[in-house]
Amino acid sequence: MNNFTYYTPTKVVFGKKAEEQVGALVKEQGCKKVLVHYGGSSAKKSGLLDRVTASLEAEGISYVMLGGVVPNPRLALVRKGIELCRQEGVDFLLAVGGGSVIDSSKAIGYGTANEGEVWDFYEKIRKPAACLPVGAVLTIAAAGSEMSHSCVITNDEEKNWKKKGCSSDLGRCRFAVMNPELTMTLPEYQTQSGCVDIMMHTMERYFNRVENMELTDGISENLLRTVMKNARILMDDPENYDARAEVMWAGSLSHNGLTGCGTDGGDWACHQLEHELGATYDVTHGAGLAAVWGTWARYVWREKPDRFLKFARNVMQVQEMESDEKTILAGIEAMEAFYRSIHMPVNLRELGISGLTEEEIQDLAYRCSYQETRTIGCIKKLGRKEIADIYRLAQ
Ligand code: NZQ
Ligand code: ZN
Repeated sequence: MNNFTYYTPTKVVFGKKAEEQVGALVKEQGCKKVLVHYGGSSAKKSGLLDRVTASLEAEGISYVMLGGVVPNPRLALVRKGIELCRQEGVDFLLAVGGGSVIDSSKAIGYGTANEGEVWDFYEKIRKPAACLPVGAVLTIAAAGSEMSHSCVITNDEEKNWKKKGCSSDLGRCRFAVMNPELTMTLPEYQTQSGCVDIMMHTMERYFNRVENMELTDGISENLLRTVMKNARILMDDPENYDARAEVMWAGSLSHNGLTGCGTDGGDWACHQLEHELGATYDVTHGAGLAAVWGTWARYVWREKPDRFLKFARNVMQVQEMESDEKTILAGIEAMEAFYRSIHMPVNLRELGISGLTEEEIQDLAYRCSYQETRTIGCIKKLGRKEIADIYRLAQ
């Protein structure tokens, strides 16, 4: 087991009617003015936004509103938020929505609390030295941003859009309000993309090069089986509270660092492959991950067969075959069959990206390798050529 630091400062308020506590939770933070940040229409339509603002008003907390966050949240709106926070003297950000709204809030927090160009933090030119405090009322179980140190923003200001992350403990949410009932209005595609993303946050960590992590592996394997079981239940019964609750809590635990304790950090190649697809084709993050995972797994498993064997046995629970290779491949196929069963894509065509030319594949790979300045993944280090191979094979 490797040395590690585990830091999860987010206060979690979980369960039915949890959002009624939001005013009191914000008050605890001792702030003067809140920016309530939200997405397109769902939080308005469900009445959640009204309930949240009523809770703030009941505590005598003043606030301003900024909606319009879209999936793959855009830098242009982040800039608008920073301007508004400075004008209004905002000192707390309340995200009401999913990963996109939370990430947009974190980015506004970085941009407001630091001088200079906010995109620098995503280009890794410099690190944020501060962030306005952020709290979240979560409406979709997926990205795990409510407990993660990560924030992913899409720069829509250049011809080729860029989707990049900034990771810092400064941006971690002070609190996360999680009522599983709020996720019952999600369309099936978003629920299931969310389940894939949750699983991938654990799988990216599970596929690593460190041995002897019995406890971390056990937590990960259980989390993955639990999400699969409950994702299937939600296909037929989207209003099943317990299934929503299991998935929602898994979403936070999957990305708060718990399933990475003692590892080397994990592989993360699929996330990088997806981020390029997200920037170029604006696809839903979890669905994009499902579309590349199987191809990635077949491309890299020979570099660490014991890990893939453990995955096949303990997560996918496949029958032992006559050779390890067959068991491993059966494990990969079983995961793809699971993705299909929850109506998730297992290749780019099913994701809605078809007929990529070789030039387009090379361009994607060039950008994903940051103009050939980096490799991605740890199971197998992938440079531009290998990245292009995976995009080509994933069609
Ligand atoms: O805008 P509205 O109308 O709210 O619609 C949203 C959006 O269209 C809808 N939705 C959310 N809650 C709903 C609902 N619809 C009905 N009922 C509800 N209760 O769902 C759609 C997706 O929302 P979004 O916030 O985009 O989902 P998600 O949480 O999957 O976030 C995706 C973003 O997070 C990033 C992704 O790359 C992507 O940009 N990620 C962030 C991470 C992090 N910060 O730690 C890690 C992840 O790996 C990921 O990269
Ligand atoms: Zn993700």
